[in-house]
Formats: sequence, C-alpha cells, structure tokens
Amino acid sequence: VNPAADPTGLASEAAAVLAERTGVAQHDVAVVLGSGWRPAADLIGEPAAEVPVADLPGFLPPTVVGHGGTLRSVPVNGKNVLVVLGRTHLYEGKGVPQVVHGVRTAVQAGCKLVVLTNAAGGLRQGMRVGQPVLISDHLNLTATSPLVGATFVDLTDLYSSRLRAVAREIDPSLEEGVYAGLPGPHFETPAEIRMLRGMGADLVGMSTVLEAIAARAAGAEVFGLSLVTNLAAGVTGEPINHEEVLEAGRAAASSMGRLLRELVERA
Ligand code: HPA
Repeated sequence: VNPAADPTGLASEAAAVLAERTGVAQHDVAVVLGSGWRPAADLIGEPAAEVPVADLPGFLPPTVVGHGGTLRSVPVNGKNVLVVLGRTHLYEGKGVPQVVHGVRTAVQAGCKLVVLTNAAGGLRQGMRVGQPVLISDHLNLTATSPLVGATFVDLTDLYSSRLRAVAREIDPSLEEGVYAGLPGPHFETPAEIRMLRGMGADLVGMSTVLEAIAARAAGAEVFGLSLVTNLAAGVTGEPINHEEVLEAGRAAASSMGRLLRELVERA
C-alpha cells in the first residue's frame, strides 16, 4: 500500500475502517502525541475504542521502540477525540506520504482541528526543561513537502492564533515560539543551533512541520504544542540523549495531559 498514489483516497479508506472498528462515525478533533507526550495520553480521557494503525489501509507498522502505532477514540465532553499514538517520522525512511497519512486519515474521519505535539530542544534564553511552548510558526527545514502538484496552500497563521489565545486563557504563562523541523535522526551540532537561532527558531525537533502542512491543505485548523525536553546542542555543553527526552515527557505528563484535555474541551 502506497499512500503517495492517492493520498486522499487511502486516507478515506482508512477513515472508513476506523469508523467501523471504533463504532464512531465521525471524529471531531485529532491529537497527535509526539515522543515524550505518550504518558499524557490517558489524561485526555477514557478510550472508547483503540485500533492498531497496522489494521488500517495505508499504514505500515512502526519501527522505533516506544512509538507503537494506535488510534484511540476518546469521548471528551460530547466531542469525539482521535488520539494518534505513535506518529511516523521522516527519519524512519518510509517516505513523506507515510509521515502525513495519520493526519490525513484524521481529517477524512471528520476532524476539523488537528493538534500536533512534539518534544523539542529549546534554543531561546531562559527556556527550561519541562516547559510547554505554543508553536506560533515553523521553519520547514526538511527540504520536502507532503503536497505534490500545483497546490499553492496559504500558510499564513498555519498555527491557529485563535487556539493559541484559547490556550493562554487556560494557562496565561504559556510562551510561544517558532519551531524548526529537521529530518534528524541525529541531534544538531552547536553550529547548526547557532544558525537556527539566526533564522529565528526558538525550538528544534524532527516532526510536526509536514503534518501541519498536510492538515492545513486538507482543510483543518492546526494547533501545535512543543514540550521542551532538553536545551539545544551547545547551550549547556552537555550531550543530548533520547532517554532524557522521554524522561522529561514522563515528568510533565500530568500537566500536559490536563492542558490537552482543557484545550480539546474549549477548542
Ligand atoms: N533536537 C532535535 N529534536 C529534538 C530535540 C533536539 O534537541 N529534543 C527533542 N527532539
């Protein structure tokens, strides 16, 4: 199965199987949980159903440990939330269409809002590990796009200013930042971090940007939330490792989960 051939068609096939397997005809909001956010999943709400993505058309089994792919249907205050556990990253080498198949499926399943979360390195002075940051804009440094053909989608206000305002009503202390999305899987060099800072980046990570573009192109409103899991390379001089990224997520899980739930309720 190759989503590149007919992305919307395969996503709507996946959405049809999802509806059948969950018994939920229409989902309203998608929440994609990045690495470090998985411990927050249970706080969004009690799942009504859970489907392994490998059972749905167009998805391949996940390759990275800790990124097991399932879609959860979670009722929250009269809304059906589709929680995407285990996103596909560009560095897995499965291709761009696989990276965005989850959000395309969510939009075909009815989601008008796509919430993208990720773990990120913090570049800005004063950022601390465990801090959630609202993504205000991005730098797509993957050198690719999920869109093919003459699809000149407007990305002004890609990360909904309306929903950023809603998030700040929940927590007025939330800061905003520009997220630089790189292919990875290696972390950056200190020189690259200096370059990114010069380009206006506040956060750096290996996901989100392609999904945001695909979700917007499919007509959804997009909201992005980074968890600062480490300070970017060269900021402290300490090496960065994947385990500290996951540990920061575990430590912040309960506050992140509550924030996501409140956001979904008010969205
Ligand atoms: N760089 C890139 N991706 C990341 C980082 C980082 O410092 N932390 C978490 N994901």
